[in-house]
Amino acid sequence: MNNNLPVGIFDSGVGGLTVVKEVFKQLPHESIIYFGDTARVPYGNKSKKVVQKFSVQILNFLLTQKVKVVVMACNTASAYALDTLRNKTGLPVIDVIEPGAKKSVELTRNNKIGIIGTEGTIRSQAYVKAIRKYSSKVKVFSQPCPLFVPLVEEGWAGSAHKHIVKEIAEKYLKSLKQINVDTLILGCTHYPWLENIIAEVMGKKVKLVSSAYETANFVKDVMKVNNILSNNKQPRHKIFVSDSPQKIIAFGKKYAVKNMNPSNVKNIDIEKY
Ligand code: DGL
Repeated sequence: MNNNLPVGIFDSGVGGLTVVKEVFKQLPHESIIYFGDTARVPYGNKSKKVVQKFSVQILNFLLTQKVKVVVMACNTASAYALDTLRNKTGLPVIDVIEPGAKKSVELTRNNKIGIIGTEGTIRSQAYVKAIRKYSSKVKVFSQPCPLFVPLVEEGWAGSAHKHIVKEIAEKYLKSLKQINVDTLILGCTHYPWLENIIAEVMGKKVKLVSSAYETANFVKDVMKVNNILSNNKQPRHKIFVSDSPQKIIAFGKKYAVKNMNPSNVKNIDIEKY
């Protein structure tokens, strides 16, 4: 295996860029191939079968790009299709659920953990199962937040729309606040884009677990163990999307995502894979 091969990362849209940003920080020598399924976002309200089919197509595409590891930077895909992808390739396939679940158990003091995510992720109970591996006494409280993903995709995560997002967040998070969870997992990679607002609504005492940070950390560990870390001084990054590139380029500009040059971003027909 050539250690300078790229790391493949995917999501339904711009959510996985929160993971990419962390990978840039924690693994600056790695080349990244990112795929955002912008033509078919959101995944959160789709069935398991459909999300599995989409995930397999994306894996097939990433394999044509000769990636050395696959990062499912999407909780919904991780919840529904992790085993499917692991059965299809011998490469390491990393999900976003396990790292966040582990971290939340380390952080909680009152053993009350909240999880917010898409309807699919919450319905799958994937976080509850992952948390159970680390603790049997923790109580888990879940809340789907289906409006968060479209708000982020529309570029409404900034201060201009804060009042609207905050009002929605207050509604979604009310019961978790009342229960007094002391740790909240942002169980969707789109949500770190709204982290400041979520933190404000939950209050200072609640610790937020971002799957982005924890996953990048986990990717580093997996690559170390497999001896596939790169020391490339000039890594190259490419972004692929299933809809037109303009939207993700504008998003990258607005939120200062590094390496989001229009020349790096290309459209592909994912249905072909
Ligand atoms: N960012 C994804 C997740 O982590 C997908 C959200 C969606 O497409 O609904 O679940």
